[in-house]
Amino acid sequence: TASQAAEKRGWHLYLVGGAVRDLLLAEATAGTLMITDIDLVVDGFHKSADVGAGVELAKALQEMYPAARLEIHGAFQTAALLWHKDPDLDSLWVDIATARTEFYPYPAANPEVEASSIRQDLYRRDFTINALALRLTPPRAGELLDFFGGLLDLKAKQIRVLHANSFIEDPTRIYRGVRFAVRLGFAIEPRTEEYIRYAINSGVYDRTAQTNTKTPALQTRLKTELKHILEAPYWRSALQLLDDLGALQCIHPTLKLDSELTRQLRLLERCLRRFDPQQNLIHWQMRLEAIIAHLAPTHRGKVAKNLQLQEDSIKHLQNLATAKTEIIGSLLKYQHHSQVVKLLRNYDLEILILIALQSQQKIRRQIWNYLTVLTNIQPILNGNDLKKLGYKPSPQYKQMLDDLLAGTLDGDITNQREAEEFLA
Ligand code: CTP
Repeated sequence: TASQAAEKRGWHLYLVGGAVRDLLLAEATAGTLMITDIDLVVDGFHKSADVGAGVELAKALQEMYPAARLEIHGAFQTAALLWHKDPDLDSLWVDIATARTEFYPYPAANPEVEASSIRQDLYRRDFTINALALRLTPPRAGELLDFFGGLLDLKAKQIRVLHANSFIEDPTRIYRGVRFAVRLGFAIEPRTEEYIRYAINSGVYDRTAQTNTKTPALQTRLKTELKHILEAPYWRSALQLLDDLGALQCIHPTLKLDSELTRQLRLLERCLRRFDPQQNLIHWQMRLEAIIAHLAPTHRGKVAKNLQLQEDSIKHLQNLATAKTEIIGSLLKYQHHSQVVKLLRNYDLEILILIALQSQQKIRRQIWNYLTVLTNIQPILNGNDLKKLGYKPSPQYKQMLDDLLAGTLDGDITNQREAEEFLA
């Protein structure tokens, strides 16, 4: 339908980006394919008034498919159509962009120049395997446009960048390259690796740490890439490859995936399985917090802010050092479970986990014990029981219940009779 709508207006329509790559890969491996993101580019129009072609096409499609939501981005350059059928079902996202032909005025219907404008569009992209286009409009519908050798790279299983400056222009492409390499089982082509190392050595962190330089800011894109990587099943290999390339420096120049951080991340997985089977915590975010927590205390808050993490995460990382000193100092002294509970219940689960990861076994066990055993212990009598025993509701109730809980935790109260005696 989209290609008919484009054809009617005398435009060309192309499927570009990840969908073409994944289609060709699925074809080569006879695998199944589930596409939820479709990138389309409209091109080949003749009037400068048509620069909003992508948006016009999206509007026309939305009229045909009223269930789709229409979003228009930027200065009439791109639009998106969104099908959000059901929260349980996969949604479909169709981006429609206009090839940037306004810089390339050309006479009508000159196929070579038409091709050069889609070529320009593809040349601005990250890797050859992502710079393929499938023509959807006739004539030659179904033709693959491969200006940069993407098909050969797909066959050779390699990630190759289109030009030397690509990573300098957009350092988050380093993370994208690693993500595709690990996800697809591809190698990073040697020259591309050189460009990555060059970009990193030329002080990439100074750029990724700058705030509000561009829209969308580099940091937002870096955070998005980190999210993609850290929530994928292959996150460990991706992190290892990022470290091998020196690319963790985009997060902070001192960040290394050393054996201590590797140990902590392994422990974190065990701990998430144990303490968060319902996945109430956001696991990719916990992994990122643990990575940032590995930095020196003075850097943590700044890095978390740069990456625009959620307020809670920033707070955990800013407070980690103080909380750690307080908790470790106290736990080493405490003799009673009630003291442990009274202290640790003031802290979020996330910060306790971060502290446990960084602590010696004795402290870690105490925190684990708190999280698995002590938090589940209830006082033997509750508010209703107190009422039944004839205590009038009063502000002291909370104190009485607290005292009962402390007695229960410390083993001084083991049954109802002992609880009543304790209150008396
Ligand atoms: N792109 C780019 N540089 C970036 C981000 C995106 O050149 N920093 C281009 C690539 O051509 C990419 C397309 O925009 O194929 C769409 O981006 P995105 O949806 O993020 O990537 P996909 O390739 O579709 O990857 P995925 O399958 O992970 O969604």
